[in-house]
Amino acid sequence: MSGQTPDDGEAQDAKELSRERFGRFAHEYVTSRAHAEGRDLQLFLEMANPDLDWFALDVATGGGHTALALAPQVREVVAADLTPQMLEAAQERATEMGVTNVRFVVADAEDLPFEDGSFDLVTCRIATHHFPHPDAFFSEAARVLKPVGRLVFQDQIVPEDDEAARFVNDFERTRDPSHSRALSETEVYAALQTAGFEVLRIERVSKRHDLAEWARMQGCEDETIGRLGEMAGEASGAAADWMEPRGLSSGGVSFAIRHVIIAARRLWT
Ligand SMILES: C[S@@+](CC[C@H](N)C(=O)[O-])C[C@H]1O[C@@H](n2cnc3c(N)ncnc32)[C@H](O)[C@@H]1O
Repeated sequence: MSGQTPDDGEAQDAKELSRERFGRFAHEYVTSRAHAEGRDLQLFLEMANPDLDWFALDVATGGGHTALALAPQVREVVAADLTPQMLEAAQERATEMGVTNVRFVVADAEDLPFEDGSFDLVTCRIATHHFPHPDAFFSEAARVLKPVGRLVFQDQIVPEDDEAARFVNDFERTRDPSHSRALSETEVYAALQTAGFEVLRIERVSKRHDLAEWARMQGCEDETIGRLGEMAGEASGAAADWMEPRGLSSGGVSFAIRHVIIAARRLWT
């Protein structure tokens, strides 16, 4: 994987920062339309192709949108996340919805506290860019899956061009310092292959975000929102093509975040 790999101390600091920030903004994520709605969640569930007998694990469950949507279609979902406050907020939502087959567990995606071969399905949606070592997550997902078990994964990706990728990651990190690094599609493929997965299906989704709304979800003040607006205006070449900023002169800036959704099968070894 290209880019800087954080050492153990840096990785721990990054996880502490994620826990602190997501603890503060848990409510915003539970009520986030960007996470709860949209064609991508429906597509994600379709690609999981769940079975009522299945045990599923949703890694970095956040507000629980994926876990709760999956729950009626499987036997049990373990909803795991690094941030206890996020799990408490997701659990409250489950109670309100009358969902009873979801178990909430504090867990680090890079060191999952589950036995080998425990799950038929592992899901992870819009979170890998927070993990300091995403390759460790993919290998843990393979370990806890039953042979030929399924991984469905969604995350934002960055352009293949290194300079444009750096720009897009810097933009995201300005909004949310717990953004470690989004990968390019090629890097995602390589990481899946190294972890022993065969890709079954890939879908590409572009999500347009109102910049101010997106930034406020992570507690950004006006000054940071202004800086993000400037950065969107400074995007050029492959980065501008990727982010497609609009409304730069009117002040109502919006931009695109590109995602991949991948269904993969753990290869039998
Ligand atoms: C954007 S939210 C996830 C959204 C959610 N999966 C959904 O479908 O709506 C990102 C989540 O990743 C969690 N997270 C960050 N680093 C993590 C790690 N190393 N292990 C587990 N969870 C982590 C955060 O606590 C946060 O709840």
